[in-house]
Order: sequence, then structure tokens, then C-alpha cells
Amino acid sequence: MKKLKFTLIGLLLFSFICISGTIDLDNLFNYETPETPDYATAFINEPFYNPIDNKAATLGRVLFYDKKLSSDNSVSCSSCHHQAQAFGLKELQGQGVNGLSLRRPIRLVNLRYREFIEGLFWDERTGTLEALATQPIQDHIEMGYSGQNGAPNIDDLIESMDTIAYYETLFNFAFGDPLITKDRISKAIAQFLRSIESYDSKFDEGLALTGGDQNLDFPNFTEEENAGKALFNTSPQLDSMGERIGGGTGCAPCHESRNFHFLVERKNNGVVSEIDGSEVLNITKSPSLRNLFDPNGELNGPLFHNGQALTFDELLDHYNDVDLNDNLDTRIIEMGQPLNLTDEERLQLEAFLKTLTGTDIYINEKWSDPFDENGNIELVGSTVQISRLFPDNQIKIFPNPASSHFYIKGNDTNKAYVIHIYNNTGQIVLQKRLDNNYVNVDHLKSGVYTVQIFLDGKSDIFVSKQLIIK
Ligand code: HEC
Ligand code: HEC
Repeated sequence: MKKLKFTLIGLLLFSFICISGTIDLDNLFNYETPETPDYATAFINEPFYNPIDNKAATLGRVLFYDKKLSSDNSVSCSSCHHQAQAFGLKELQGQGVNGLSLRRPIRLVNLRYREFIEGLFWDERTGTLEALATQPIQDHIEMGYSGQNGAPNIDDLIESMDTIAYYETLFNFAFGDPLITKDRISKAIAQFLRSIESYDSKFDEGLALTGGDQNLDFPNFTEEENAGKALFNTSPQLDSMGERIGGGTGCAPCHESRNFHFLVERKNNGVVSEIDGSEVLNITKSPSLRNLFDPNGELNGPLFHNGQALTFDELLDHYNDVDLNDNLDTRIIEMGQPLNLTDEERLQLEAFLKTLTGTDIYINEKWSDPFDENGNIELVGSTVQISRLFPDNQIKIFPNPASSHFYIKGNDTNKAYVIHIYNNTGQIVLQKRLDNNYVNVDHLKSGVYTVQIFLDGKSDIFVSKQLIIK
């Protein structure tokens, strides 16, 4: 059975690798209405101003995988958040354009159901995915559009995206006009991230079989897995010195026991050093404990923000005997210290955590890389040709300053436009009907000009912009 499942996964992987490189805008994947169990939707927390929409989430998918969003075109979000590793990374640090990430990349799992309960990032410094989405792009180490030390900034990125044809179509498709802004980039990425869900594990099957009661033994679990579940969920028995002498292992008060989100208290669990060895007391949350292991039973990367536990057993060594610090969460003391785990209990906990691994997150094409191996993407479908009339302030002229030519973006290709260019003494120096977006100004001297665009046959100025010719 297991073997068959993996052959099927292999076939699926193979078939979508063959067709990647193409997005059919007439047949979008379903991001809007996933089949999410009630115990997850009870936590749903998505801002009213950015609900998931198939069009914008499709744009988000392209942005997530696009290396052109980094200053040297070598890194995308997916460089540190691999689908095959539950959108985390098996290596300790991710390779950014200017060095290695300072912490371990976090697996991006079920963010739609928890981001406001906990903050985002290991130290919870960011509140929403909208606020987070462009931070890696603007991070000097990660994707490089920081504006620091002469590096380009996000406006430079937007200018370069303005010349990429698939973004013109996709922003138009998602937002109704092709204007690219930081806000729209954030919204689209946030929607894509929120769409990534994993609720098809053995644990979820078991929960369905008991009618949603996580405290009953699951009929589909082995004895060892059920014993691990009981340990995880049950309070320990402590002696008068606070040492654990039996009972459960007290994990659930911090790692919620159906969704495996983190329950907030904003103190640390005793892991207090950064990768570089400096002290850190404010690592106050854990990633979802779902998909800690991949479908082959291997860890999706070293554990904790600094990767100090290379195996699950080493992680338990930490909890078994935690050193006190000034910001230690009281729930660590309540587990019992030392925790006195037996070898059998260690194996039971590991067997249980392995039941939290799903399948879909690793293979569903809707979350996969849409680019082909040469970094190209082709958009197909009737909606590729959509065009509309753009309000004045959404017509753009670029590059500006220009030298030999410029482009006009945002005009409705179904309508006839006339362009007039005036010099600084008000004389008309160019007048033509626009038949495409390209305007040649090779013959004009450097200086400041005014560009006016009219709808053909009408005298009202439709748009008026200043243009600098170098
Ligand atoms: C160079 C590697 C790297 C790249 C590139 C990168 N990330 Fe990350 N990501 C990380 C690391 C490291 C963390 C944890 C950082 C921390 O907590 O200080 C992280 C954390 C996150 C989180 C927080 C998850 C949570 O549960 O708190 C999100 C969301 C995220 N990244 C999304 C993105 C997006 C979107 C992009 C692309 C725009 C991106 N990342 C690009 C390394 C990377
Ligand atoms: C005080 C609350 C608390 C308790 C109790 C607790 N944890 Fe954690 N756990 C955390 C925090 C905080 C982190 C992240 C720490 C870090 O990375 O520096 C974490 C991280 C983890 C991780 C690593 C996740 C990853 O992706 O790196 C695992 C696995 C884990 N805990 C399992 C357990 C188990 C099993 C128990 C019970 C034996 C337990 N935890 C008890 C707070 C807690």
C-alpha cells in the first residue's frame, strides 16, 4: 500500500514537471475554497481586505517562485522554502544573495489559521503576512532589494518588473489593471502563503474516526502512536522537587494538540543561542509541528531556530533537562524538570509526531514552481488579452528619464490614443497616433517635456505627465 502510494506520488510529480512553465488563466487552481476541517477553520484569521482569490493567489505563486525578485536574479522565496521540504529547508541556513540566513527558515504550513494568534518569525516580530511578504525581498542578505550600501531598493524592483510581460498580464488579471505596487505584491504573496495547507495526515484521518476527539485512542494508529499521543496531551506527575515521575510529557499546553499551532505566552523554551553563538531570549514561538518529518520519515531540517537538534532524540535531550534563563516559559517548569523521559517514551513521542505528516503539501501542483527549467513562464487562456480603460493616475511612462524611447503602460489596447509631446516652451515636438506602447524619441534633445495622451477624436486630455529625456 505504502509503496503504491509513493509510486503514485512519483507519477504525479513527473506529470507536473512536464507541464510546468505554463499557467492557464482560464483554468485556475482552487485556492479560494479548500476542504479544510472545522478544527482548523475555527482559527481562521485572514484580513477582510485580502481574502484569498484564485487570480491573485496565482500571481502570488509566480512571485513566490520568481528569482527576478532578488537583486542578482539568483534567489526566490522558494530557495529557502522548498515545497518538497514542507516549504522549509533541510539545510540549517538558506543561501541569500548576500550570504546565509541568520536563522533556520521556517516551514510555511497552515499559516492561514494561526498568524494573528502568534506573530510571524521565530521572535514574532511581524503581525501579518501582508506586512511580512516583501520583507525578505527588502532584506539585504536574503533577496537584496534593501537600498543599503548602494543596493537597489523595492522601487527599482518594481521598475524592472514593469518591463516583464507576464507581470503586466498577471497584475491586470488579479487587480483589474496592470499597475505594480508594493502593496499588491504583498497581498498576492500573502494569499499564496495562506493557501498552503496540510490537513491530510494520518492524525487527521484518526481524528475523523473518533468524531473529532483527540483524547480517544485512534483506531488507525499503532499502539506506540496512541501512547505517544497520550504522552503529548497529558499533564505530567511531578514530585515535590518538580521532577517528573510519570504521567504525560506536557507538550500540548504550548503546541496545541489538533492543529499543532503554537499557543502564545511570549517566553522561550530554553533554546537561547543564535547560530552565531550570541544569546537570544526572545524566541517565543515554534513553527507548526505538522510536517516536521517528510513522507519518508526524515526530518525536514534540523530542529529549533538555530538547528541545535539534528535528530528528534536530541530535541528531547533539550526538553529533558532545560537550563533556567531570565525569560523561560513557566510551562517548561510545569512539564517537570528533569523530564526523565524513558527510551520507550522517546520512541512513542517520535512515532506520534510522524503521524502529523501530510501528502498534498509536498505534491499539489497549485503550490509548485510554475517556471520551466530555463526560468520561463507562458500564460495561456482567453483572458490573457484582457484590457481596460485605466484611470489617468494609473498610466505609466517608463523608463523616465528616457533616452531614445519610452513605453506607455496602462492604456487600453482596444481604444485609439493620440500622443502629444511638448517642450518646455510649450511647442509641440511630436504628435502621433499610438498603435502600440512604444514611442521613439531618439530625435529629441535632452530636457524636460510634457506628454499628453488623448482619446482619438476627443479633445479632453486623458493623461498629462512630465517626461525627462537624458
Ligand atoms: C535566504 C533564505 C530565505 C529567503 C530567500 C526567504 N526566506 Fe522566508 N524565512 C527565512 C528564515 C531564515 C526565516 C526565519 C527568520 C526569523 O524568524 O528571523 C523565514 C521566515 C519566513 C516566514 C515566517 C513564517 C512563520 O511561521 O513565522 C514567512 C511567512 C516567510 N519566511 C516567507 C517568505 C517569503 C514570502 C519569501 C519571498 C518573498 C521568503 N520567505 C524568502 C529564510 C528565507
Ligand atoms: C514553553 C512551551 C513549550 C513546551 C512545553 C514545549 N515546547 Fe516545543 N517548542 C517551544 C518553542 C518556543 C519552540 C521553538 C524554540 C526555538 O526554536 O528556539 C519549540 C520547538 C519545538 C520543536 C521544533 C520545531 C521546529 O520546527 O524546529 C519540536 C519538535 C517541539 N518543540 C516538540 C515539543 C515536544 C515533543 C514537547 C513536549 C515534550 C514540547 N515541544 C514542549 C515551546 C514549547
